[in-house]
Amino acid sequence: MKPRERAAGQDKGAVVDLPELRPGQSVELLKELHILTRDGRLNQDSRRKLKQVSHLFQFIEPLLEEMAADGHAPLLADHGAGKSYLGFILYDLYFKAMGRGHIYGIETRAELVEKSRALAKRLGFERMSFLNLSVAQSQDAAELPERIDLVTALHACDTATDDAIAFGLQKHARAMVLVPCCQAEVAACLRAGKALQLSRTPLAELWRHPLHTRELGSQITNVLRCLHLEASGYQVTVTELVGWEHSMKNELIIARYTGQKKHSATERLRAILQQFGLESSLGPRFGLTA
Ligand SMILES: C[S@@+](CC[C@H](N)C(=O)[O-])C[C@H]1O[C@@H](n2cnc3c(N)ncnc32)[C@H](O)[C@@H]1O
Repeated sequence: MKPRERAAGQDKGAVVDLPELRPGQSVELLKELHILTRDGRLNQDSRRKLKQVSHLFQFIEPLLEEMAADGHAPLLADHGAGKSYLGFILYDLYFKAMGRGHIYGIETRAELVEKSRALAKRLGFERMSFLNLSVAQSQDAAELPERIDLVTALHACDTATDDAIAFGLQKHARAMVLVPCCQAEVAACLRAGKALQLSRTPLAELWRHPLHTRELGSQITNVLRCLHLEASGYQVTVTELVGWEHSMKNELIIARYTGQKKHSATERLRAILQQFGLESSLGPRFGLTA
């Protein structure tokens, strides 16, 4: 054990000395999630994961505080939950002690859903549910309440982030915390319009190399997502999840509902889609009607 490491997380008689752990954080949970090894150590990959989730917690905690201030029981939906690191750690660090609120994990891989259900049962995390659904299907799922306070989607694949935004809008979410993953749809639409773009402007250079077009597609997608949120009444902040050395996909979008729908955002959104020849293919996804 490194000399600078100090006592932090502790349960079931185990004492683990790691500066990455928060006081009282469940060592048992972190072992179950394979973030900590059986003897309570972190490897490089799990240290990165823990760092990401802990960093995200710093942004989510104040939002939950606000939502819970009047005795309300916050409802959170985590989309593309995977092994539900985020949901479990949020429950352990916040929901468990609060004694109210509920976390829903939404995930298409049935085996991960089963594992999460079993783990929640083992740990007595009663106010966690896991649904074997796609993000899109979850909008109409009877198991979910009509309103959800906080929507999270951490590296949910491709257009799942867009579906999570649509879910948040439908559920009148008070906040959304999104870390988009790779996005292929916009790049594919850009490539489809390549001939048109190449004849139009010096920006055609952006279409010359497929790698650039792909990255451009990802960037444009996130810009469009932010405008869509602003047009829908959210105030949007964009920041980094952790340093670039930890993950290539670490753009963190935090949207808080204010109710002020920005007309200028709708206009900008439309103009960007027009500029890139994407209006008919992608307008509806980003909330534009004809
Ligand atoms: C890269 S993993 C991220 C998992 C987790 N959020 C994390 O950060 O550790 C993406 C997860 O999203 C799930 N997924 C992808 N598309 C989805 C969709 N449309 N609806 C629900 N889950 C989806 C995948 O099965 C996978 O488990």
